[in-house]
Amino acid sequence: MSKAPAFTCTACGVAHKKWQGRCDACGAWNSVVEEAPLSAGPKSLGGRGRSIVLTDLATEEAPPPRASSGIDELDRVLGGGLVAASAILVGGDPGIGKSTLLLQAAASFARTGLKVMYISGEEAPAQVRMRAQRLDLQDAPVALGAETNLRDILTTLDAERPALAIIDSIQTMWLDTVEAAPGSVSQVRAAAHELVTFAKKRGVAVILVGHVTKDGQIAGPRVVEHMVDTVLYFEGERGHQFRILRAVKNRFGPADEIGVFEMTGGGLAQVTNPSALFLSDRDRPAPGSAVFAGIEGTRPVLTEIQALVAPSPLGTPRRTVVGLDSGRLSTILAVLEARCGIPFTGMDVFLNVAGGLRVNEPAADLAVAGALLSAREDVAIPPDMVLFGEISLSGALRPVGQTENRLKEASKLGFQQATLPTRSKTAGGSGMKLREMADLAAFVGEMFGAG
Ligand code: TYD
Ligand code: MG
Repeated sequence: MSKAPAFTCTACGVAHKKWQGRCDACGAWNSVVEEAPLSAGPKSLGGRGRSIVLTDLATEEAPPPRASSGIDELDRVLGGGLVAASAILVGGDPGIGKSTLLLQAAASFARTGLKVMYISGEEAPAQVRMRAQRLDLQDAPVALGAETNLRDILTTLDAERPALAIIDSIQTMWLDTVEAAPGSVSQVRAAAHELVTFAKKRGVAVILVGHVTKDGQIAGPRVVEHMVDTVLYFEGERGHQFRILRAVKNRFGPADEIGVFEMTGGGLAQVTNPSALFLSDRDRPAPGSAVFAGIEGTRPVLTEIQALVAPSPLGTPRRTVVGLDSGRLSTILAVLEARCGIPFTGMDVFLNVAGGLRVNEPAADLAVAGALLSAREDVAIPPDMVLFGEISLSGALRPVGQTENRLKEASKLGFQQATLPTRSKTAGGSGMKLREMADLAAFVGEMFGAG
């Protein structure tokens, strides 16, 4: 076996043969670092191993026992509560509120009778206690530790055997068996591996906090995503008080589920009706705004999509997108031009999802097109209308899943009409006025009198 040095991107975890200034996989600059090689095992595997025990697929397993945190938004994202002996990664930008969320979760779990340990590698016990007092959690029976040496932490966990251990953060932990600085790819990987193995072997659920990092000095949470059962990201715009906890991987529940929180002076508060919240600052009907009836995980969520179209002084007009995929915007602009004869050449286009939510569904296409056209033509979309549907490259509208749930949520919030693709599966129970469109040209013709 040749011993080529291993290089790894700290942003996305992809391995490279040699050092390079920019990772080809994720495009990050200065993120590729050399990794200490893992200890070499025996030269060849010619020796005799044990036979492993094989089973079948038919044996029925009881569903894993789950513990409720008492915070519904968190339970839902976990797939219905915390699974015993599972490993969970909570990633997010520094300062977004991960420690706040997990301290609240720790206190909440502890109050339900679970034995919880919170190990902080970043803050002194006094700091954590101060935060707990501010959040009015000081009476919760959480065992608090401040340590970064993983050997000591594992010894303590083994002696105490809590049901849940929270490690804040994985980037501060270090193993004395690995010769690399804390936060390096090798340390973060090795530390996560030890903790995840410990979780499975000893029946302790662990939650690892991981900071998303922009520069290459510290390994990001991506490098441990594959080791854990559940990956949650805590997202939000700095300027907004809304925070979204999103499951991007979950071996014990649906991925793409979200929990919505609001950062207040007294910590994170649950938002049980996100649609009302995301639409709350809508005042009068304004050109450039369209309400999208979306689905986040198992829950319908209405969001406002806003567009601004203005003549551009630049040779290459601006395309600025917040909360949506910019590639999707380019596609929709191209379809509008090619299939409906509505060009956006020479115009700056700004597109935004109000409230700081990130929308990943292709079903948002029609609302995006609606907002763009409404901004360009300076015609407001009726304020009681929601839109959804996927736009194909031919300009046809494709039905999307969960039509009835989208309509019901819209109806509940006082909307009275919906524009959607033809052949959508509706049960007709929502009481909404439906405007079914076969393609984008029909939509343009009906809404904006052109096309
Ligand atoms: P923190 O949980 O420390 O973030 P992370 O662990 O992800 O780095 O959150 C820090 C921010 O949260 C800080 O800017 C202050 C704000 N905050 C509140 O607004 N209200 C609160 O009650 C608390 C505890 C923090
Ligand atoms: Mg923190």
